[in-house]
Amino acid sequence: MEYQEIVKQKVKEIQKKVQNGQDVLILAIESSCDETSIAVVKNGREVLSNEIASQIDIHTRFGGVVPEVASRNHILCINNVLKKSLQTANVSLDDIDAVAVTYGAGLSGALMVGVNFAKGLALSKNLPLVAVNHIKGHISANYIQNKELKPPFICLVVSGGHTAILKIDDYMHHTLIGQTLDDAIGEAFDKVARVVGLGYPGGPKIDKEAKKGEYNLHFVKKSDLDKTYNVSYSGLKTAVINYLHQKEQNHEAINVADVACSFQHEAVDMLVDKVIRAAKEYDLKTVAMAGGVAANSYLREEMSKKCLQNGLELTYPSLILCTDNGAMIGAEAYNNIVVDNNVCYDLTVSPNPSLKL
Ligand code: KG4
Ligand code: ZN
Repeated sequence: MEYQEIVKQKVKEIQKKVQNGQDVLILAIESSCDETSIAVVKNGREVLSNEIASQIDIHTRFGGVVPEVASRNHILCINNVLKKSLQTANVSLDDIDAVAVTYGAGLSGALMVGVNFAKGLALSKNLPLVAVNHIKGHISANYIQNKELKPPFICLVVSGGHTAILKIDDYMHHTLIGQTLDDAIGEAFDKVARVVGLGYPGGPKIDKEAKKGEYNLHFVKKSDLDKTYNVSYSGLKTAVINYLHQKEQNHEAINVADVACSFQHEAVDMLVDKVIRAAKEYDLKTVAMAGGVAANSYLREEMSKKCLQNGLELTYPSLILCTDNGAMIGAEAYNNIVVDNNVCYDLTVSPNPSLKL
């Protein structure tokens, strides 16, 4: 029998296993940026292993992720990450029901490594291949964190490439409520960290520095956007850059901690109120957060406080599940394979660097 026919049957078998309450194991691969990660996820919500090889130390020298360097390092370590992941989960490839992989969005060469590795594994073991949208994976990290979580809920997606308020309608569909009109919040954190001299990776460095500072600088004024669910980060980013230039021209010292703290306050505050308003308007009692910036300590604190004040339940992934990781890809793949019969599970998938949500 051809591979195509075999995997069609296997997908049906997986769906039957789910109906009968039998365990389903997914091996999930993530290589969209500078983390090579492979996880084994049981029944979409239980993480048996989540090995992550981070390249942060390598890219720090260059002040940011160098795509070519990222691809080479994925190639160098992916086999080892697979071995460790199977070892930690205490399973072999023969125990796996399906392979999942991030196919976008991300760096083209980096995605190529993961996608081709996944294709090789799927073909050699006659397993279905589930192609996963990276940002949907970030959202699904919440199902691992909160085993009781079920749609519908409001989800704030905050990453290096996305800033959006979504209504998660069901496991496959969502409605866009608001988004950034220009830069993503993570991009703004990274840019501000660079211009203020904190370097890469920007988000965590601003977060840490902000703890030493005070919110005593005001970069953005109230705008018409306040009444909508949309946000804009280019104005805030430019205001910080202009402030720094002015200080430099006047030979005045800069308090980096205050700049970090004030920027972080304004970047986060403009989102939190909108998320609460969205939950009320759509009459939803649960709020979730997803993406790298969901690791931000001030965002977590502020959102927790406001959700509590408004009687809303808040869920966000642990720090390790906020960064890029294979487990979230496994959780999303499970939702795809179980809920949607028309999911793409063959070998025709190719990386899509600009894949939309
Ligand atoms: O979700 P992610 O891996 O990016 C995409 O998938 O696009 O998130 C990376 C982004 C970076 O911009 C990084 O600076 C930011 O998340 N980030 C943070 C923190 N940790 C990571 N931003 C603010 N505070 C943090 N603690
Ligand atoms: Zn990500």
